[in-house]
Amino acid sequence: MCRPLPASRCVTRWPEPATRCASRSRRRWPWPRCGAARARLATCLGRWARGTKAGSDLARRPPDRGGAPAPSIPHPGGLLSTPDTDTLQAIDAYLNDNEARFLDELFEFLRIPSVSTDPENAADVRRCAEWLIEHLQGIGLSTVELHETPGHPIVYAEHLGKEGAPTLLVYGHYDVQPPDPLELWTTPPFEPQVREGKIFARGATDDKGQVFCHIKGLEAWLQTVGELPINVKLLIEGEEEVGSVNLDHWIAAHKERLSCDAVVISDSSMFAPGIPSITYGLRGLAYLEMTVEGPDHDLHSGLFGGAIPNPINEIAGIIARLHDDKGQVAIPGFYDDVIALSDEERADFAALPFDEAGFLEESGAAALRGESGYTTLERIWARPTLDCNGIWGGFTGVGAKTVLPAKAHAKFSCRLVPGQDPERVAEQAEAFVREIAHPSVRVTVTPHHGGKPVLTERDAPAVQAATRALSRVWGKEAVFTRGGGSIPVVATFSDILKAPTVLMGLGLEDDRLHSPDEKFNLENFYAGVRASAYLWDESQS
Ligand code: BES
Ligand code: MN
Ligand code: MN
Repeated sequence: MCRPLPASRCVTRWPEPATRCASRSRRRWPWPRCGAARARLATCLGRWARGTKAGSDLARRPPDRGGAPAPSIPHPGGLLSTPDTDTLQAIDAYLNDNEARFLDELFEFLRIPSVSTDPENAADVRRCAEWLIEHLQGIGLSTVELHETPGHPIVYAEHLGKEGAPTLLVYGHYDVQPPDPLELWTTPPFEPQVREGKIFARGATDDKGQVFCHIKGLEAWLQTVGELPINVKLLIEGEEEVGSVNLDHWIAAHKERLSCDAVVISDSSMFAPGIPSITYGLRGLAYLEMTVEGPDHDLHSGLFGGAIPNPINEIAGIIARLHDDKGQVAIPGFYDDVIALSDEERADFAALPFDEAGFLEESGAAALRGESGYTTLERIWARPTLDCNGIWGGFTGVGAKTVLPAKAHAKFSCRLVPGQDPERVAEQAEAFVREIAHPSVRVTVTPHHGGKPVLTERDAPAVQAATRALSRVWGKEAVFTRGGGSIPVVATFSDILKAPTVLMGLGLEDDRLHSPDEKFNLENFYAGVRASAYLWDESQS
């Protein structure tokens, strides 16, 4: 399923260290003392940031929020609680002083249409990687590199040298899903706007907004303290939305360089607004496309209909047989490897304050529907599913055309749970489809990208650090949840780097990721930046 990868070409475009003055002192003001670093940060921050003090010049930066008035920044409950050290107070002050600039910069990032699925956007995807490189250089990270792959570039950065301190690898993706259907967006997807305290744009939450929280969390340390309390590596890829097809090879080829104590990812959701969460499980994915062929050209349905197989009728029959009447997937062997939920986990899920009516309302459907014997949270977090994602063929134009089409197509995907293997499931699905298809038609099944399901450690030190950081920001204990989506690289981090992953989701379930009007709440953005800054602090021990 993966394209072969030649040894990657590493282009280190900015070989000199970003801040020669880094690590020298524990500064309390938000602007580097050293001239070279200040100049570089000024370049990165834009032409308004030329002076010696950040505040005065940055404040003059024109408003850039799609014409909307400057938002008043909401802060979650615990956010303003007094931090217990001078350093964190300085960091908090830096975050408060710079929040308007952070938003302007996120807008710049969001304006780049880095749609990885569409070859027409390849130049935009690269431009986005280059924008990130320049930005990371500007915040003061010591090593910032662009790595070529056969697909879209990988952005990699490091800030090391804290001997004896843990090393965290932050992963995120700068590519986004296509914005279609465009007509359903209230404002254009690549012209970010704040409305009612929410940032609307493609990528706002998935994943530009969330990864940007970490970038600003790092900047806060580098620009106030001059160094990080731990070692940090940053890996931001441009192919997550196309199945991270080149990333596994790149990670294997850079295994030593990427070695770390834990991986941190913010690319999922919080359980509910105001409830900080750690996601400890994600579903995997097996994606397939099938074509059913009957006659070798379209036929007159009056002259041939009833005597020649109709591929659309046949594909509909196949799809109808993929589930039984209890809502279970009917593919033989499909559930064989599923690791069942323990009674304890079921009880934990049931104890969460799940708003089922709100969940249904957000979907817009009339009623819930799924596998019998499981609750909604169990169905979306811990049960495997099969969904048809697209179906086409025959005549779909205006009016009526009496045609018996030559071909019909469908795309369908299975969400997988721990224990299941995407390749095995794809084979089982293909065998079943072939078996149930009528002999009068020819069926082809092609696999697309997949991803392994994962369960992450709940008691790793990095997970504990993340729960402490989240609880400090939101003033509330973090809960453990699972997620129904997939992030294929998490399994790779565990297999190749042997490192636990902390899934620190900062988005919300109603963020409409992959849909029109994708959004990221300003409150989540600013709280996310703070959570990132606190995470580095909490990870020291
Ligand atoms: N960030 C999402 C995955 C996600 C979202 C996990 C919310 C948990 C909660 C990611 O960008 C994504 O969309 N993944 C794809 C899979 C990929 C192989 C295209 C998915 O889940 O469909
Ligand atoms: Mn994502
Ligand atoms: Mn996504």
